Amino acid sequence: MSSKIKRNVLKSMIIGVLAYMGALGVPQPAQAEYADIVINNYADAAGMRPAVFPHWFHRIRFRCKVCHTDLGFAFKAGGNKITMAKIIDGKFCGACHNGEISWSVENCAMCHSGIPGQPTHFHGSTVQRLIAPAYKPLQTKDTTK
Ligand code: HEC
Ligand code: HEC
Ligand code: HEC
Repeated sequence: MSSKIKRNVLKSMIIGVLAYMGALGVPQPAQAEYADIVINNYADAAGMRPAVFPHWFHRIRFRCKVCHTDLGFAFKAGGNKITMAKIIDGKFCGACHNGEISWSVENCAMCHSGIPGQPTHFHGSTVQRLIAPAYKPLQTKDTTK
């Protein structure tokens, strides 16, 4: 091997190692963000299937701030007292599921798709490992300004 080729091979190896280290340095995403949340504070008791909120599906469309600050969703599965009256009134899910930003509340089965009897929970919840400060950079990065 010529010394030039050797140098290039060495260079690309170093770049590879740096890239690998860089990847390790990136904060690991909280798995809860990718999961579905089954919300069942009232639905079952009212004879409806539990509501399912696909978190990741929404999270890739909106910044955390939209829901967890502006719309006031608590960072806790089942942590909000969500009723249909509030939704129809434009609160919680109803801020978007109003036939304008997204399809409207008439589509009961789109949200009420949980298995009857399933308690409020987070599929594959890693909530114990979630620490609020990890979200700060995402929440404060407001690109609309
Ligand atoms: C955009 C999502 C969504 C749609 C569409 C939706 N719901 Fe709900 N609904 C929820 C959520 C979330 C809750 C709270 C679940 C809980 O905590 O048990 C809820 C709760 C309920 C409850 C129990 C609380 C209450 O207000 O009495 C009933 C009954 C209910 N929904 C009926 C319906 C019916 C009937 C429709 C269709 C006309 C509908 N929902 C459409 C999301 C939705
Ligand atoms: C479209 C609205 C929306 C967006 C955007 C959103 N969330 Fe959520 N998030 C929710 C709802 C709804 C819940 C469940 C609340 C409930 O059950 O009452 C939730 C719950 C959570 C929870 C609690 C999980 C648990 O195990 O209890 C965490 C943590 C969370 N979100 C983090 C985030 C982060 C971080 C982002 C941005 C990367 C984000 N969310 C973006 C709506 C949203
Ligand atoms: C910030 C706006 C926003 C909020 C709040 C919101 N949604 Fe949505 N949701 C959307 C949009 C946008 C879509 C995509 C569908 C579309 O293009 O109309 C969607 C789609 C969905 C879907 C369909 C997912 C799929 O795979 O097609 C479900 C189910 C759903 N939402 C449930 C809920 C429930 C339950 C809540 C409240 C706990 C909620 N959403 C709150 C904006 C929102």
